[in-house]
Amino acid sequence: MNIKSPTAEHAAYPSLADKRVLVTGGGAGIGEALVEAFARQGAHVLFIDILDVPSQTLVQRLAAKAAHAPIYRHCDLRDIDAIRRTIAQLEKEVGGVDVLINNAANDDRHRVNDVTPEYWDERIAINLRHLFFAAQAVVPGMRRAGGGAIINLGSISWHLGLADLVLYQTAKAGIEGLTRGLARDLGPDNIRVNTIVPGNVQTPRQQQWYTAEEEKEIVSAQCLKARIQPEDVAALALFLASDDARMCTAQQYFVDAGWR
Ligand SMILES: NC(=O)c1ccc[n+]([C@@H]2O[C@H](COP(=O)([O-])OP(=O)(O)OC[C@H]3O[C@@H](n4cnc5c(N)ncnc54)[C@H](O)[C@@H]3O)[C@@H](O)[C@H]2O)c1
Repeated sequence: MNIKSPTAEHAAYPSLADKRVLVTGGGAGIGEALVEAFARQGAHVLFIDILDVPSQTLVQRLAAKAAHAPIYRHCDLRDIDAIRRTIAQLEKEVGGVDVLINNAANDDRHRVNDVTPEYWDERIAINLRHLFFAAQAVVPGMRRAGGGAIINLGSISWHLGLADLVLYQTAKAGIEGLTRGLARDLGPDNIRVNTIVPGNVQTPRQQQWYTAEEEKEIVSAQCLKARIQPEDVAALALFLASDDARMCTAQQYFVDAGWR
């Protein structure tokens, strides 16, 4: 059976119109779909990346059709001072952040024997540390606004125990703990914190890791027999960021086509 791909017939969330939504790693893959999905809802999208040309191209592509042209800023998320400066500058421009989507990561493969203390620190810096410091930077503004939503991107990888990804999986397991701890501490301020756990999503980067044959194997292990698209992940993020999810916090939500 053919499963229909995501189309323009998606849900509209009136509560997302004019919301200030900050997406990390918004220049490619799932992040790009997040930027586009929130822009289509009339949100004011701000995004951070290190890929300047694709990010600027994305801004240009969406500027004409979105209520608010997305704003892109170059920021290497491994640099905490740069995160703080960039978010402070963006908040100055738009007045605050209502929704933070901690999406950026890097799933480079590695062998146990090759991991050095420096490589460990670098992998944790790109896959875990910045999520906390970006949240810390936006929380005061969310408190002043009476609430907010933080969505962290986890991964199915550590739930499956995949090969050659120990540090990435360690970080992604940590993200689910981070989510639950932040949700507890920030709940009294009406700030909701959740994790989205994608299965294998058909992004350009994933295509460097999996051959067509391996993609078929993934689909055959899923309950649903189609490749997950970035828009499928964005659809859940829209719901979790919206007021429709006002009582959803501290949880993990899978978009994995039933892979486990
Ligand atoms: N694609 C999948 O199958 C899949 C599966 C499970 C989880 N995820 C998670 O979903 C999220 C998005 O994944 P994706 O597949 O779209 O990844 P991707 O590699 O296609 O995109 C990640 C984005 O983050 C940016 N980024 C990387 N390092 C950065 C840095 N130091 N500073 C700023 N930006 C940086 C990249 O430039 C890129 O635009 C990640 O958290 C990933 O772990 C993806």
